[in-house]
This record gives sequence, C-alpha cells and structure tokens, in this order.
Amino acid sequence: MKNKEPMRIALLGLGTVGYGVYEFIRAREDLQVACAMSLVVPEDVTCPIVKDIRDIWADETIDTVVEVIGGLHPAYEWVKGSLEAGKNVITANKLLIAAHYKELVSLALEKGVALRCTAAAGGGIPWLTSLKRCAEQEPVIRISGIMNGTTNFILDTMHTTGGSFDTALAEAQRLGYAEFDPTDDLNGADIRRKLVISSNIGYGCVLDEKEVATEGIEHITGEDIAAFRSMGRVCKLIAASRKLDHSVAAYIEPALVPPSMPESAIPTNYNLISLTGEHIGKQSFYGQGAGRYPTAYNVLQDCVDVSHGIRGFYTDRLEEAHVDNSTVYRHYYVRTKGDDSWLKARTESFLPCGVITEAVSVSEIHAWAKKRRELDPDCFIASLR
Ligand code: HSE
Repeated sequence: MKNKEPMRIALLGLGTVGYGVYEFIRAREDLQVACAMSLVVPEDVTCPIVKDIRDIWADETIDTVVEVIGGLHPAYEWVKGSLEAGKNVITANKLLIAAHYKELVSLALEKGVALRCTAAAGGGIPWLTSLKRCAEQEPVIRISGIMNGTTNFILDTMHTTGGSFDTALAEAQRLGYAEFDPTDDLNGADIRRKLVISSNIGYGCVLDEKEVATEGIEHITGEDIAAFRSMGRVCKLIAASRKLDHSVAAYIEPALVPPSMPESAIPTNYNLISLTGEHIGKQSFYGQGAGRYPTAYNVLQDCVDVSHGIRGFYTDRLEEAHVDNSTVYRHYYVRTKGDDSWLKARTESFLPCGVITEAVSVSEIHAWAKKRRELDPDCFIASLR
C-alpha cells in the first residue's frame, strides 16, 4: 500500500512550545513542518524560514497552520488570515481564543476548516477533547478545577517547603511553566481564559471573559499559608463554573481545600480538571498543565486529529450568556489591614492574621475585595471548600 503524503504544516513560533512541536513532528512520517516563522530559530531547525505570513497563505501545499507564538497580536491577524485562506488552524493560544471566540469559531465553521486549541486549556491533558465528547452526549452542568500549572507549583512549593512566594515563582519561570510575563498567571487571568474556553465548549455558550469574577494569588503570604496549614487545609487556585437556566456562574479564586478533596493533593505543575455531566456525574482529568512537552503533546495530538480528517471546532453552539455569581454562597478567609464595617458584620471567627466570614455570595465578596484594594492593596481572600 502506498504511504499517504504527510500533512504539510506551517509552524508559527519556535519558542518553548513551538520547538517542542518541531521536535515531535520531526520524528514522524505522517506530518511535516513545511516551513516556520520565528524571530529566533534554534540551530538544528532545518525547515525553510518564512518572513511573510502571506507566503504561507498563498502556498496551496500547506494544509495547516500551527500558531504557538502566543499573545494577541499578530496572532489574531495571522490566525484569522489563515482561516480565511482556507487553512486548518491549531493553536495553543488561550488569550486569543477566549478574546475572539465567536468570531474565530464562526469563521472556521463557515470555511469548513479545523480550528483546534486543545493545548490552550489543561496543558498536556486531553481535557477539551474529553469535554467535547461529554457535551455531545448530554448536558454538562459544572466545570471546575486546577487549571494553571504555575500557580499550583507556587502554592505547592510554599506549602511543602515553607519557602517564599518569590523563590517559588522564580523556579516556576526557570522550568518554563509561567507565561513570558507571569502577571496573568498570578492574577488569575490565564486560568480565567481556560475556564471561559472550557465553559463555552461545555455549555455551548459564549462568555465575556471580563464578566468572570477573578481573584488571584499575587497577595498571598507565608503567614497565610501557615494559617491554612493550622486549619488542616491546602490553598489552591480554583476555576469554577456552573450552567444556570439563563446564565452561567463562573469565577476564579484561591480556595482552601480539605484533605478529603482530590484537589488538595495535586503537586507541582499538575492540573486536575473536572466536569459534571447530567448522567455521568463527575469525571476528573489529571496531568501536567504547563511546560514544553506537555503543551506540545496536545498541539501534536490536534495535528494528528486534523490529519485524520477532523474539521470544525469542538462545538458549533454559540449562544451568548451572561455571568451571574449571586446564587453561589461560601465562607471566606479574609486578610485585610484596618477596620471594615461590611467585613465586621459578616465575621464569624478570628485567626491570627485574618478572619472567617459567614457564607456570602461570590458576587458580593469579589466586588468587596476589588473595592477594598483601593484602601488595602494587599487584601487577600480565599473561599473555604
Ligand atoms: N502559564 C500556564 C500555566 C501555561 O502555568 O498553566 C500553560 O497554559
């Protein structure tokens, strides 16, 4: 039998993830890097280097564009132009997909080409493909979990070594887990994008990222961690969403989880992401959520799926939905300097460096924390699970 011609790929980006993708494809016969575009080209890259994206769009022998440059620009223009040129697109870019979800998914569906972004949520875990399979079968009701490797690495390191936030962050950066600018990992923007993409696919909706209430870990201290340890709890940055009748509850926040919850045991850069289906109940997916090879693995898996003929996006349901967190209630750990009448009226108990509130709605306490930072920029909150 004659071997099929390899699928010819244009690789945009030869950085941490891009070079991993290049290495994986180089070892295969069914895929081929026809050319690459990159500001920096590692010495052993032998494919042609293209300077102008329009040369890729005009090349009819190129089936598929893999975008791993990250950031919004020029990724948006390059991905949109590639879809318009009738190329399949595979991207790891959660910033891009979360921001331009409806437009890019609609364009891929209109052009009849593939748009895949499995590496954009869950690093190397086949999370989005599993979520798609569940959503095809029955309603997905909830999505939750640890979806950022950098913050999990930092929190795990602080808990297990008692070391400082800065030392743990530096190590996460050295290992290639953090974004180029780690601000979006620490303030929750990165995990928020992953939650938005997951919720959109799971519920068949389109969420506006800006509506998702988000608290990060940038204000956490060693003292907070010591208090959580004395409570027998572990701090994790958790993403959570739930399908409501006419809206979606969706939020990101540090959460103090008891040892009985599997999330408490997730080490280093690993992620644990769960879906709840109407009949299947809760299913959880575990693996490395960041790093060169885990992320490149999912990009490669998308390439293989596309080479097998998969087209379109994970869903074609694009119903716009608003976020409403007013019906979700939790107790919170709050650390802030000075008096606050709202907090005082809701305090149930005191810890050496903070307080525990009565059950309050997610929407109310997130709004309070944003306002409180005008007076106390280091204010920190974490829900109790
Ligand atoms: N900075 C991200 C993380 C990379 O730490 O999870 C993978 O998306």
